[in-house]
Amino acid sequence: AVLHAAAARADLLMARRIVVLTGAGISRESGLATFRDADGIWAQVRIEDVATPDAFARDPARVQGFYNARRAQLRDPAIAPNAAHLALARLEREHPGEVLLVTQNVDDLHERAGSTRLIHMHGELMKARCMSCHGASPWRADIAPDSACPACDARGRLRPHVVWFGEMPLAMEEIGAALEACDLFVSIGTSGNVYPAAGFVAEVRGRARTVELNLEPSEGASLFDEAMHGPATQVVPAFVDALLRGA
Ligand code: APR
Repeated sequence: AVLHAAAARADLLMARRIVVLTGAGISRESGLATFRDADGIWAQVRIEDVATPDAFARDPARVQGFYNARRAQLRDPAIAPNAAHLALARLEREHPGEVLLVTQNVDDLHERAGSTRLIHMHGELMKARCMSCHGASPWRADIAPDSACPACDARGRLRPHVVWFGEMPLAMEEIGAALEACDLFVSIGTSGNVYPAAGFVAEVRGRARTVELNLEPSEGASLFDEAMHGPATQVVPAFVDALLRGA
């Protein structure tokens, strides 16, 4: 058994390339709502009213208000990384340079858990983007109508640094390269409803081992080799422990 485990671990330590995709489900047990569950954000407010460029052009105050409220919630110290975020940070520490975390989430819980090789493909609530210089700057406060860009000083030109429907996700080239090279793809806490993230498993299956960790089967569940269904704070630490034991 020891020899087998050692061999398995050696196999694991061979140039492993692990891509982990996360969605709102990983932050649910930290107290942040998901989008499509019964108590989700899109059950309270319509996408076309707050999460499209047209919505922002039509009623910027309403859109700023929606993201200011979500940013204010994220400043609440009661909202903290959970065991799932922490397990992914541990996986990165134990496999330096081999784990890339691609999140659809705009919260900062992965960073606060200690993950560093992280891509926010839908942007970040705690950054503001300037519509004059196009720079994104750290921003934890409300965005007011006369807020000045920290980079170029333009006033009243800041928007949430969040990708709206109809806009291009960020870092897609880097993500595509990582998907091309990975031999393990793990999808956590996402319903598989929104592209391009929902298409990642189809890109890698057959070439990489594919695993879904989710409360319940997602839209793309049938495309995964393996699945563990349950709350992220249970299934993610369990999966990471097994992976680090050489499973
Ligand atoms: N543990 C694990 N999974 C959970 C938990 C939990 N505690 N609670 C809910 N889930 C799962 C749900 O079963 C669902 O499959 O998380 C998933 C959340 O799905 P969505 O609400 O659709 O969120 P997400 O997949 O991240 O949405 C993708 O849509 O609205 C856009 O830009 C937004 O990034 C978001 C994108």
